[in-house]
Amino acid sequence: MSEKTATLDLGETKVEFPVHKGTIGPDVVDIRKLYGQSGRFTYDPGFTSTASCESKLTYIDGEEGILLHRGYSIEDLAEDSSFMEVAYLLLNGELPTPDDYDDFTRTITLHTMVHEQLRELYRGFRRDAHPMAIMCGVVGSMSAFYHDSTDIKDPEQRTIASHRLIAKMPTIAAMAFKYAVGQPTLYPDNSLSYTGNFLKMTFGVPAEPYEVNPVVERALDRIFILHADHEQNASTSTVRLAGSSGANPFACIAAGIACLWGPAHGGANEAALNMLKEIGHPSAIPGYIERAKDKNDPFRLMGFGHRVYKNHDPRATVMRKTVREVLGSLGVDDPVFDVALELEEMALNDDYFIEKKLFPNVDFYSGIILSAIGFPTSMFTALFALARTVGWVAQWNEMIEDPDQRIGRPRQLYTGPVQREYLPLEKR
Ligand code: CMC
Repeated sequence: MSEKTATLDLGETKVEFPVHKGTIGPDVVDIRKLYGQSGRFTYDPGFTSTASCESKLTYIDGEEGILLHRGYSIEDLAEDSSFMEVAYLLLNGELPTPDDYDDFTRTITLHTMVHEQLRELYRGFRRDAHPMAIMCGVVGSMSAFYHDSTDIKDPEQRTIASHRLIAKMPTIAAMAFKYAVGQPTLYPDNSLSYTGNFLKMTFGVPAEPYEVNPVVERALDRIFILHADHEQNASTSTVRLAGSSGANPFACIAAGIACLWGPAHGGANEAALNMLKEIGHPSAIPGYIERAKDKNDPFRLMGFGHRVYKNHDPRATVMRKTVREVLGSLGVDDPVFDVALELEEMALNDDYFIEKKLFPNVDFYSGIILSAIGFPTSMFTALFALARTVGWVAQWNEMIEDPDQRIGRPRQLYTGPVQREYLPLEKR
């Protein structure tokens, strides 16, 4: 894959590196031999210029606002596909035939229930536990329940673990919700779609029939599609790093969930909606915009800006349309949505945000939709985790199958004390 070379001139030595070409996107300088040949490391905290792996799953062009899964644009997938189809595509590399699709959805359906004993785990949590705290714990515990799919060297066990994770995540997330609100948990209903079943397990109660609203089902399925994978983001890199040591898939996905929880990553939609509630009324928006621009104020407009997208977030464009569909269909009239629409307008026309290329990201809009559907803000990141499990699992499988895979072990620029003499306590 290497055609060109790049030379690094270090004064006393020159080191030559191969340059690899991807199918699209920037070339990469392969610096694996740098330390061996020069005794130097590279320094790239935040990994802004570092490709950590080779991947065939997802491509992002942040300048152009392009997101492709296995070559298919996110706009096409969000418009015409379904979350289950996108899951198949990410895992297998190609879109399914009708028979493949039926087989895959049936297989996932057969794994929707969780081990009955696992249900007991929930009772150990406080009722006010954050759903992400429960998700980290319960998903991590799956390695104790599903021993027969933890041998990462066995391709069949890897496949079963992948299917289990994707299938059980809605059940686990819905149970976390039910536990918090004090309602009985519902068993999965395999006559429904993946997303319809999740809605029923979340909002249904045993005493009443539950009808899935098709507009809501489609909107949520679309949110799942938009969050399914996103290249080597923080949580995916966490899953890969955890997996690089040979840890089992359930432990790796639990690590991904922990990373996703942060407000700069998956926690952003929760933080964005909390911010909109705090703003409260469109008249208060200018004050918040001023705070976001003030260098001495740590406040940031949540749901704005992105590490990679510096033009627009293509997922946000799709979500923006869906917001209007869902609000219209549900007849929701909430001042938070007025604040959101006004804030979007003001920030998009503000020089600071234009200059720094800070556009609303997917989480700005997904929070509004999820809230209109009836999810409490604390569930937002859990829904992101549910959807991203597909990407995590696909990336984890790709990593395990990569013959070049080694344990991930970054180095550092050490700026601490040099070696010094230890003085016993009584002499200090
Ligand atoms: N509000 C106000 N100013 C901002 C914001 C914001 N939301 N985001 C970035 N800036 C400013 C920042 O202060 C900096 O200014 P300066 O150059 O004067 O120091 C400049 O823009 C560049 O910011 P950065 O922190 O260097 O950019 P980054 O690429 O490291 O951070 C980010 C990206 C997403 C963490 C950041 O934009 C942010 O904190 N946004 C709010 C949180 C959020 O919505 N996160 C969801 C991301 S999308 C979901 C996902 O993919 O996980």
